[in-house]
Amino acid sequence: STKASLIVVSNRLPFVLIRNPKTDELERRASAGGLVTAVCPVVIKGSGLWVGWSGIHLKDPNEAIPESNPNDQTPTAGLKSEQVVSVNIDSKIFDSYYNGCCNKIFWPLFHSMPGRANFGGEHWHDYVTVNKHFAVRTIEALEKCLAKNQGSEKSPPIVWIHDYHLMLAANWVREHAEEKNLPCRLAFFLHIPFPPWDIFRLLPWSDELLQGMLGCDLVGFHIQDYCLNFVDCCQRNLGCRVDRNNLLVEHGGRTVRVRPLPIGIPYERFVNLATTAPKVLKTSKMQIILGVDRLDYTKGLVHRLMAFEALLLKYPQHKEKVSLLQISVPSRTDVKEYRELKEEVDQLVGRINGRFTTANWAPIRYIYDYVSQDELAALYRDAAVCLVTPLRDGMNLVAKEFVACQINEVPGVLVISPFAGAGEMMHEALLCNPYEVNEAAEVIHRALTMPEDERVLRMARLRRREAECDVSHWMRCFLKAVGALEMDDVGTT
Ligand code: UDP
Ligand code: G6P
Repeated sequence: STKASLIVVSNRLPFVLIRNPKTDELERRASAGGLVTAVCPVVIKGSGLWVGWSGIHLKDPNEAIPESNPNDQTPTAGLKSEQVVSVNIDSKIFDSYYNGCCNKIFWPLFHSMPGRANFGGEHWHDYVTVNKHFAVRTIEALEKCLAKNQGSEKSPPIVWIHDYHLMLAANWVREHAEEKNLPCRLAFFLHIPFPPWDIFRLLPWSDELLQGMLGCDLVGFHIQDYCLNFVDCCQRNLGCRVDRNNLLVEHGGRTVRVRPLPIGIPYERFVNLATTAPKVLKTSKMQIILGVDRLDYTKGLVHRLMAFEALLLKYPQHKEKVSLLQISVPSRTDVKEYRELKEEVDQLVGRINGRFTTANWAPIRYIYDYVSQDELAALYRDAAVCLVTPLRDGMNLVAKEFVACQINEVPGVLVISPFAGAGEMMHEALLCNPYEVNEAAEVIHRALTMPEDERVLRMARLRRREAECDVSHWMRCFLKAVGALEMDDVGTT
């Protein structure tokens, strides 16, 4: 056959390693985040390789990666240790790259929040170092992959680099692969928004980033707008010849394809989880409004809480009948902005609860912890309303997971921000501009009081789209875009 292998390169491996203090052995723990949920099942099915950081700084970089725990039910369980290439970097340099550069500069800037960005030249230097190191490990993975398949008539492996942590790696992978005569196809996918030129140009290293991404044959984004922003930046920053209609950029004597590839979720998996998950919400009379987010300033939590307060003031009939269940996953706590946000949200939750709580009811239940997807499925299923109201978000998988889990006869309502990539396609949800707090309260009221037949109609359409455009559909679209491949060509079914 002509099956190609897939080598995924991302900052995080799809699990973190923890050292068991009793046995001193390394163990795997599944990690959160949109990327893992989406890509891992595909690498497993296609017997690919995954290059990334294990979440632990190993003293001995050759220490073996453990196999998964036999009870592991997460999407990463089937990934064998021989499929994992872990990247080890000095912890100081890694911190500067990950927190200093990725989290403090690229994250806010790419989400069009330059006021939150802290530029620092030394962090850029470390970003370059780490990207080079990832490129070296990727070349090793490529050699391993080619050696394993020697003799078989495979098409060249696909090296698929992910996200804003690794925008420079492709160029060095290409260089080394050419030097060593290693055949491969190179693709990049950005999981966050790509900002318009007048924001992107604020970066002191904007040219280098574009050149890095253009090292690939294919550059993918979630939606058309991000593609157009990227093409625009290539033209205005680098003076590249571009074709806006066909989303092509000429660079270094090659033509780079730019493509909108909106990610989906493992839809069936969530339907199954929702079908089997026991009830978590015991109060059947109470309407639950659900929020599920990493505690991140892009997610619009403060605005959401203020909108909920406005709702209780304007429509007091919801008191003691409605409760907001907000799950906030601790995230990037080494960064000041995130710690300050936690303080702000804690105080706001306290203030609103202090203002409205009665003997039998508290308006907000706030969980500052990671919740497993099994448990999330039950919450998604039984919530009356799900609020997905980011100020800006590349896609947002929570919106899609909520829809998939709506298996009850009487469905709930999705409220979504137009500033999330998901808001672009989920037309049957209620749109809500999170910046307009009073208007947002009106939208929540409308969701809570929506007639049953309207909810049924809207949810059926939303579910049909997510069932069709699930994560394996995304994968097929990616493979098609990277080289007119069929799904079978990477051994997936
Ligand atoms: N998630 C989870 N446990 C939680 C909260 C979130 O497993 O307590 C998962 C959620 O199911 C989803 C992902 O984390 O798959 C979040 O992806 P999304 O695109 O919504 O946001 P991101 O965190 O990637 O910005
Ligand atoms: C977003 C990014 C991912 C990242 C995830 C969690 O989804 O696109 O690349 O892994 O957030 O953030 P963290 O900094 O904890 O990896």
